[in-house]
Amino acid sequence: MRPEELILILDFGGQYTQLIARRVRECHVYCEIIPYQTPLEEIVRRSPKGLILSGGPASVLDPGAPTIDPELLRLGIPVLGICYGMQLLAHLLGGQVGSGGVLREYGRTEINLVHPSLLWEGIDSPTSVWMSHGDLVIQVPPGFVITASSPVVTVAAMEQPSHKWYGLQFHPEVAHTAAGRQIIHNFLFRVCGCQGNWTMASFIARSVAEIKAQVGEERVLAALSGGVDSSVAAVLVHRAVGEQLTCLFVNHGLLRQGEAEAVLETMRSLGVPLVYRDASERFLARLAGVVDPEEKRRRVGHEFIRVFEEEARRLGKVRYLVQGTLYPDVIESGTPLSQRIKSHHNVGGLPEEMELELLEPLRYLFKDEVRELGLELGLPEDIVWRQPFPGPGLAVRILGEVTAEKVALLRKADAIVTEEVQKAGLSRALWQYFAILPGIRTVGVMGDRRTYSYTVAVRAVESQDGMTADWARLPHDLLERIASRIVREVPEVNRVVYDITSKPPSTIEWE
Ligand code: XMP
Repeated sequence: MRPEELILILDFGGQYTQLIARRVRECHVYCEIIPYQTPLEEIVRRSPKGLILSGGPASVLDPGAPTIDPELLRLGIPVLGICYGMQLLAHLLGGQVGSGGVLREYGRTEINLVHPSLLWEGIDSPTSVWMSHGDLVIQVPPGFVITASSPVVTVAAMEQPSHKWYGLQFHPEVAHTAAGRQIIHNFLFRVCGCQGNWTMASFIARSVAEIKAQVGEERVLAALSGGVDSSVAAVLVHRAVGEQLTCLFVNHGLLRQGEAEAVLETMRSLGVPLVYRDASERFLARLAGVVDPEEKRRRVGHEFIRVFEEEARRLGKVRYLVQGTLYPDVIESGTPLSQRIKSHHNVGGLPEEMELELLEPLRYLFKDEVRELGLELGLPEDIVWRQPFPGPGLAVRILGEVTAEKVALLRKADAIVTEEVQKAGLSRALWQYFAILPGIRTVGVMGDRRTYSYTVAVRAVESQDGMTADWARLPHDLLERIASRIVREVPEVNRVVYDITSKPPSTIEWE
């Protein structure tokens, strides 16, 4: 899973550290984020082609400020310090760092490239960059040259090229730095001598070999949710261990229109062994009479565990469980490499006592890389580009009691939203777009007759990660098409409203 060409990013707690990793990966160079305290021997053992010292909230002037073993700078490995990283380089190598005071900068700034540098190849001066810092390098260490300055900051960039030490006061990883990608590219290819061999094809080859070695002759189980992560993880593991893998797909009856069929067809066409369990009636029975959102979630989760346990028992001896954990989850939780199953699980919350070992083949990938991997593995676009969908499914989009009739109604309305958004070519620009059944009825008039029917709400949001979201400014004619189709094609509905709240203060789902 881990290629030979490696860049290590030492994390000092910067808000943009994940973005640095994204930018490096975009250059087809593999990288990992590691804590700044990682022991020197561990770093040497990984033999990185280069090190990037991230930004961070601390000041090198503070007692006990985060630092590195200065020996790390004597190994001949190229180093790029960004913001705090640059100040740390200056501090450790005999320069002087001072508090920015009135020179503190936040935002877009023009810098002049005042000295030639490998980092500036292909970039015209002046160029606009994103600054966000308190401290400044006041004096560069002996042997360093200043390579860029802004009207406010003399040392906007510095370097000691013979030792391959580079420092940037600004953030090349954020989109506001016009030449940021080029600067990172130059560091990787011109300074570190990277080749750019991180491709999904090479990732597959390495992963398959590693999974084979880890699993041996044991049996593996994958629980499919219908989402992109669990599907891609399952197909990748199947490449490695073939028939030793069984996929379990529990249909809880709360899926979107055509979803179960699409997952089944895809997995079967790829030759992945699949156990399909239609447990719709069980789930609906458990939800009868329940109106509290948390209670609905709890019951769906528990029922899922029960079905999962029954099937796992029937399958016999299973040692590994595939999980579609992604790199952002790993970075955020700081999870150790091997862990036992806890009650919280991507697919639905699996029991602790099952003692299955986790197989997480996507744990070093970002979401867009998973999509690329899915396409490379032959998964169809509609699975690869599927929007996120909550584990409890339509149960949390039907307010009040969930009944089979309401599920059927919402499914029809939701399919219309999906179809129209896709036809308008907006599906990839949106994080999610779906219908909700608030469970209220209002008076309408259709064909000269009074109606008293359901209202459907439509929600479409833009988001990077689901943590915050902005309501999507969908074109009015698209909204009109959605509304008129829903009232025409779903007889139980006479009114459609559009949700124009962002997250916060709302959440994306209604329950
Ligand atoms: P909220 O509604 O909290 O949702 O703004 C944020 C994102 O998470 C999804 N979501 C879930 N995903 N299990 C999941 O796997 C769940 O129980 C769940 N609840 C919400 C939601 O669709 C959105 O993308």
